Amino acid sequence: MNYNDRFLRACRGEQVDRLPVWYMRQAGRTDPDYRKIKEKYSLLEICRQPELAAEVTMMPVNKLGVDAAILYSDIMNPVASIGIDFDIVAQVGPVIHNPIQSAADVERLKPVDPEGDLGHVLETIRILDAELKVPLITFAGAPFTIASYLIEGRPSKSYIRTKTMMYEMPEVWFALMDKLGDMVITYIRAQVKNGSKAFQLFDSWAGSLSPRDFKRFVLPTIERIYAELSDLDVPKIYFPGVSSGELLPCLHELQADVIGLDWRVSIQEGRRRLDGRFAVQGNLDPYLLTGPMDVIKREAAHIMDEGMQEPGYIFNLGHGLFPEASLDKLKQLTEFIHSYSSEALAKQ
Ligand code: CP3
Repeated sequence: MNYNDRFLRACRGEQVDRLPVWYMRQAGRTDPDYRKIKEKYSLLEICRQPELAAEVTMMPVNKLGVDAAILYSDIMNPVASIGIDFDIVAQVGPVIHNPIQSAADVERLKPVDPEGDLGHVLETIRILDAELKVPLITFAGAPFTIASYLIEGRPSKSYIRTKTMMYEMPEVWFALMDKLGDMVITYIRAQVKNGSKAFQLFDSWAGSLSPRDFKRFVLPTIERIYAELSDLDVPKIYFPGVSSGELLPCLHELQADVIGLDWRVSIQEGRRRLDGRFAVQGNLDPYLLTGPMDVIKREAAHIMDEGMQEPGYIFNLGHGLFPEASLDKLKQLTEFIHSYSSEALAKQ
């Protein structure tokens, strides 16, 4: 099989003969074979075994026929290297044993050392680079989203401690943003050097901020990250997370290639708010995947019809997959994306 570069072409706004598709959180999750592996090992234990982590990364590529792989890892993976002690607890998510509360806590954070502390991740990337016939996407959590875990200590719905730090101790907040920005830059650079073909920053919870707060407290660091990584010759994706529609007009100056949209704005409206400056990726409501196949297809067709109005569109979900989604429906959906879009694009 030849190398399938449709995902990379779409990221660059080039023509494709059919739409590329991948799903956020496609690795692991819904697959019974993955669940068997999970009975023996935790997420972090899988990540520490490059052959196994590469196998889990490849499972959805082989089983679903998606056009890109995303590294099996977690946004929390690099924070151990900067001095944060955490576990990923089943059904909860990341739990931090030493949450950040003060200037001294931020001061203590070390620079990330990818080669020293995350050698297993880089080795997984090298294995995948040699084996995959589709592009490998690697990723990092964006500073706000990572900070929300580091400050709250666990997943939160209100982000009350995070916002309190922003408002009460802005100098501590900005010092933390600086350190997490440096972490992301160093880690992404190491990923690309070891063979990843695109990267995405997950800012899953940035939509909890007003556009004014986003611009003041978060965007400068995001803009710095993409500016400092602008020499990397791979597509750069920013996913501003759930409920991020109001943030889209703030992103015009970002030196990224692709913006991920959640399902609350249409593809057309998302492009309008982004002033047509980026390729876009998204945005099927992941909750829909528990519905009947004809409804899933109807909504996917509607999204594709808008997506295909311009080059530079990648089909995805508007947020990560839920464990409840069925592998069989995802496979049918992937086939449908490919057949529907190749017919439509042939007529264009
Ligand atoms: O996309 C992929 O398939 C690659 C792997 C990946 C994981 N997490 C593996 C994982 C990626 C890209 C992530 C990103 C991530 N991690 C985000 C951004 C997600 C998004 O869509 O916006 C967030 C917020 C996290 C933090 C995190 N990790 C949470 C909240 C949880 C637990 C709750 C949950 O949703 O399951 C995790 C654990 C985690 N990360 C799992 C996986 C496969 C579940 C571990 C398991 O199988 O038990």
